[in-house]
Amino acid sequence: MCGIIAAIARKNVVNVLKEGIIRLEYRGYDSSGLAIINKKNKILRFRAKGKVKNLIKIIKNKSLSGHIGMAHTRWATHGKALVKNAHPHISSNVAIVHNGIIENYKKIKTYLQEQGYIFLSNTDTEVIAHLIHFTQKIYNKKSLFNIIQIITKKLEGNYSMVIMDSNDSKVLLAVRSGSPLLVGKGEMGNYISSDQLAFSNIARNLIYLKENDIALLTHNNVTIFDKNGILQNRKEIESEIKNKSVHKGKFKHYTAKEIYEQPVSIKNTILNRFIKNETVYFSELDVKAEKIFSQTEHIQIIACGTSYHAGLVSKYWFESLAMIACDVEVASEFCYKKILVRKNSLLLIISQSGETADNLNALKISKNLGYLGSLTICNSKSSSLVYESDFSLFTCAGIEIGVASTKAFTTQLTVLLMLVAKFIHLKSKNFKLEKKIINLLNILPNRIEEILKHKKSVYSLAKKIFDKKNIIFLGKGEQYPIAMEGALKIKEISYIHAEGYPIGELKHGPLALIDSNVPIIIIAPNNNLLEKIKLNIEEIHSRGGLIYILSDPFAKFNKNRNIIRLPYIEHLISPIFYAIPLQLLAYYTALIKGENIDQPRNLAKSVTVE
Ligand code: G6P
Repeated sequence: MCGIIAAIARKNVVNVLKEGIIRLEYRGYDSSGLAIINKKNKILRFRAKGKVKNLIKIIKNKSLSGHIGMAHTRWATHGKALVKNAHPHISSNVAIVHNGIIENYKKIKTYLQEQGYIFLSNTDTEVIAHLIHFTQKIYNKKSLFNIIQIITKKLEGNYSMVIMDSNDSKVLLAVRSGSPLLVGKGEMGNYISSDQLAFSNIARNLIYLKENDIALLTHNNVTIFDKNGILQNRKEIESEIKNKSVHKGKFKHYTAKEIYEQPVSIKNTILNRFIKNETVYFSELDVKAEKIFSQTEHIQIIACGTSYHAGLVSKYWFESLAMIACDVEVASEFCYKKILVRKNSLLLIISQSGETADNLNALKISKNLGYLGSLTICNSKSSSLVYESDFSLFTCAGIEIGVASTKAFTTQLTVLLMLVAKFIHLKSKNFKLEKKIINLLNILPNRIEEILKHKKSVYSLAKKIFDKKNIIFLGKGEQYPIAMEGALKIKEISYIHAEGYPIGELKHGPLALIDSNVPIIIIAPNNNLLEKIKLNIEEIHSRGGLIYILSDPFAKFNKNRNIIRLPYIEHLISPIFYAIPLQLLAYYTALIKGENIDQPRNLAKSVTVE
């Protein structure tokens, strides 16, 4: 979503802001802006529509200098992606950048307009800037900190923000409300951002703000107060990011780098999690968690986007391997319906970022409904979901920059399969099956290495589909959610309309869409479902469908079918395996079309608003 970086230092902060905003672009990218307070205590602001490079171009030849400043990448909520709506927003001596939505902004705006304030943007954020200025006029003896305490009581919604005041350029203020903000302590100064990536090159010591914290930053000090104004001693941690991990290496795009990192990210995810290759061990879980797992008779999964698809795959695993009933829902639906909690049910939230607002809402709503507990599977150890859940398990994908999720998905599936093995251990005690899962997870990284070598055949398929208007992906069993994920990847980065469907359901409607212009991509490995799948393939063939089958060396099909022969894969881990060619297919299709693969239009990596 929106990205915030702000700095106060003993040196000129312009380059820190520029580098930070470039690193944050993946969060949201319809416009951006930067402001500093210069030597004459004047706010200088620059804003641009579109990519961050447009902003960088504007400030390139300006000799800007300031020891305090802020920058922002925007993902529009209120007001179109126009320069006038880009942050920072200014009210006289006050400048702010904001991530979130002020739900009561119209009421405050009307009031401020009656007081003579003129609004130059369509955003909710500008309301905060004027409200701060207006409150300063009323309480002219109060510090900026006190003013922020007053105005936050008037705001409804989410308002993680950073504020600076040209009347006091020695202090930078930040409020966390709804979406994450963290402080970075560096040698030359202090920084605040929505993402540690923004300053991982200059600040290794981090403090994550807690909900409703207000942080006061000077160039050599950081003080944090809770919502009651009580001084807090928040834990300082070392950054997990190695600077090199934010580079593309030999790859043209982060998305490609992340697809090719999957053997390593899966290796890291299973590392030290097996005892003697017989038992799954999660160091994150305590005895209490194991006790809850032993009692669990039902799992309710909540997730969004790609993480939702990981949840759907795991439903097949939980039910067929661990014999535990499982339901999966998208968070935005779960929050707005009657929730009937099953007997002995565990709430399981899956999220790459741990900051998706819909998931956080779902967790909040579920707190007192009677679930045995809440477990989050997450790629970010310091995220809000991890903080708010009873227990967490971590994927070790490493930072994922491409907006379309790839390595986070396969590591989520890896953790989910390990979790299934854990349940088998605790409940059905089928230790042979647990060991089998462990053995298969151990060979998975090599299997993925192998499939990544098949890029040529996937590229040839991309050349056949890149100019189509619609694509249908089909699967059966555990491969049905993989078909959905394949369709989502194509939609996200290639901008081709695609649907993921259960192959047996095709005859109940979508068969009407079939003609020689709609590629039908079918996942059909050689397993116990293959004969059924073949029947459905024939139904499509007789109607002139343009069929492409992803399969293995052993499956037999009728003559003259387009078959992309991929390496053999063991059934249990096959959903993780087949996700890879579909990721590559979306990547190559987008590459041939010349699309912006890492930052697809209208999307954001971490969606921190409802
Ligand atoms: C956004 C991203 C998707 C992601 C979804 C859920 O829409 O663009 O790639 O799958 O959010 O994100 P989460 O961080 O909760 O997994």
